[in-house]
Amino acid sequence: MAGHLSPIDTAKFVAAKRACDFVEDGMRVGLGTGSTAAWLVRCLGELVNRDGLRITGVPTSARTAELARQVGLKVVSLDEARWLDVTIDGADEFDPELNLIKGGGGALLQEKIVATASDRMIVIADRSKQVDTLGAFPLPAEVVPFGWQTTKALIEETLSSMDVLGESVSLRLNGDRPYVTDEGNHILDLHLRRIGNARQLALILNQIPGVVENGLFIDICDVVVIGHGDGRVEVRDINAGTREEDRIAFVDDDNLFSDLGD
Ligand code: A5P
Repeated sequence: MAGHLSPIDTAKFVAAKRACDFVEDGMRVGLGTGSTAAWLVRCLGELVNRDGLRITGVPTSARTAELARQVGLKVVSLDEARWLDVTIDGADEFDPELNLIKGGGGALLQEKIVATASDRMIVIADRSKQVDTLGAFPLPAEVVPFGWQTTKALIEETLSSMDVLGESVSLRLNGDRPYVTDEGNHILDLHLRRIGNARQLALILNQIPGVVENGLFIDICDVVVIGHGDGRVEVRDINAGTREEDRIAFVDDDNLFSDLGD
């Protein structure tokens, strides 16, 4: 392996590359958002341009759509595709049951809709995303701008009776202004430190009127591909109960690595 990629980028790249094995000719593929998913989009672009793979991509954010078009993928909306064969996306945390925290990049709403509309969801991640219990990463909740401070207060009140270690909630900012999602909403980050019952919390948060969706993905992910900085990958399939190891050999001096984005 040549030495241009950092260990963390190598880990993300090999996870993305291995996940491409789940993509077959003619498939409709949900394209995740974030730095790991950006590697996937690049790898798929290479398969399309070099090997003639025919796939249709449904992006989970405007920035993924832009990258997908740049690398030559055919892009359609979820309404055009309706149902997908597979979605491949990154995650902020995954636990042993492959439950996830997502939304660090602010795209959790489209990511959850797209993943749920897929036969299979595959998460690609480096090992730092693996946790015993979810919650060290702040849990994002997408909220409508109208009355967001009231929604925040209601979330805080709700958290006081939940099995979590922290209860503070912050509005995500972009500079000195509230962050705005692709759907025109805001993000509240819930600093919980440890989530004792993620399934229950996911259900209860969504009952608060101003909450559009939360970043807990429960029973959605089927497979996780964990990349390592030395080129090794682990593939865990929660349904089959299997765990495989592999190694991705590559030379990081071709076009794929020339213009690192995201
Ligand atoms: C985007 O909203 C997120 O769900 C990302 O999938 C998540 O933050 C992982 O991003 P990285 O791959 O950049 O770590």
